[in-house]
Amino acid sequence: MRYDFDEIIDRQETNSINTDGFRDFIFHAGPDMKFPYADDEFIRMWIADMEFACAEPIRQAIQKRLDRKIFGYTIMNLDTAYHNSLTKWCQKKYDWSFPREELCFSTGVIPALYQLVELICQPKEKAMMVTPAYGFFKHAVDYNQIACDCSPLIVDSGHFRVDFEDLERKASQKEMKLLIWCNPQNPSGTVWTKEELERVIRIAEENDLWLISDEIHCDILRHGVRHIPLAKLTDYKKLITCMSASKVFNMAGLQFSNIIIRDPQLREQFVLRDKNVGFVNPLSIVAHKAAYDEGEEWLDQLKTYLDLNFSYVKDFLAKELPLAEFEIPQATYLAWVNLNAYLGDIDDLPRFFAYEAGILLEGGDDLFVGNAKGYVRLNLAMPRKTLERAMQRMKEAILEHANKNKAKA
Ligand SMILES: Cc1ncc(COP(=O)(O)O)c(C=O)c1O
Repeated sequence: MRYDFDEIIDRQETNSINTDGFRDFIFHAGPDMKFPYADDEFIRMWIADMEFACAEPIRQAIQKRLDRKIFGYTIMNLDTAYHNSLTKWCQKKYDWSFPREELCFSTGVIPALYQLVELICQPKEKAMMVTPAYGFFKHAVDYNQIACDCSPLIVDSGHFRVDFEDLERKASQKEMKLLIWCNPQNPSGTVWTKEELERVIRIAEENDLWLISDEIHCDILRHGVRHIPLAKLTDYKKLITCMSASKVFNMAGLQFSNIIIRDPQLREQFVLRDKNVGFVNPLSIVAHKAAYDEGEEWLDQLKTYLDLNFSYVKDFLAKELPLAEFEIPQATYLAWVNLNAYLGDIDDLPRFFAYEAGILLEGGDDLFVGNAKGYVRLNLAMPRKTLERAMQRMKEAILEHANKNKAKA
């Protein structure tokens, strides 16, 4: 079957955060915030969901479940079929698997992070992460009133690497309890090498840290790239792996994630304190199972489409905005672009692009914790025609600003 990623799908009035939630999420503002663009005129490159239709086998699986007519309280404890589907996928994709008893569920990786930080860290203890980071890593830590240390990534001609001396120093503090790791990394899209991952594990082990590996982006890879689950490299008991088909198959609204916890005591606490007492959405289960059983063909075509979107953006920037720094990432559908050369004088880049270009995007320290000044994150998971319009609008706004600055100088 050939899937159509060029289809433009109307998301208005579907309660989508993407169309209706940007004032609150990006600008921390209410419905009164006005823009020179009507809401449906914006091109939306912000929150990490896609403008593509969910894969047909998933929609059919949901339909089949709808036809069973009853949607009562739903649990997973007797279900081995789901674990079989997931581990078959993991085995094939990453040559790795894990036992059934380690598998827990959550209504999302974000809720799981909030809960895990609460369970792992006591008052006066600390958590850490590398920056730039996915904003909710820090929100989960802040919410639990736990102190947070950040280790800035180093950029080498567009490639991101860990400052291991800094990471090690921060990890060795006696109050440090938890390292939240993102594999592959959001927002940079970095796929860590085996050596980098082994070093991270060593640091966690030597300092007796809990290690959460958020691997939600692990299937959104450029063609030819392989994901290495952190758990494949170690049997360290304090490792927790978070995965979901939600992001890669564009069904984040179904609110379902796999939380793989090795330590039996933490697992017990996690399940006990689970705000949903282990209940899950019956439609989410069948959707995720169908993704793992039948989603590969769709994913393969998605990757081809995304590879071309990335090449388009890379070429566009090289030609039209040559001072923008950007390398195609090995993972995610997110482009992390350094615009300091053009917009270094602008503090609030999302605001600039919303007002001057009619583009909704995320960027800067406020949304990515730190080490992100002058960077924007562009979600490229959209039909090529929309992407072309977006890049054109961005270019015009950036060059107009640069020309104004030149005239002032
Ligand atoms: C690294 C990372 N973790 C978690 C999430 C969200 O996870 P969930 O929708 O399962 O709560 C995102 C969404 O963008 C993400 O990028």
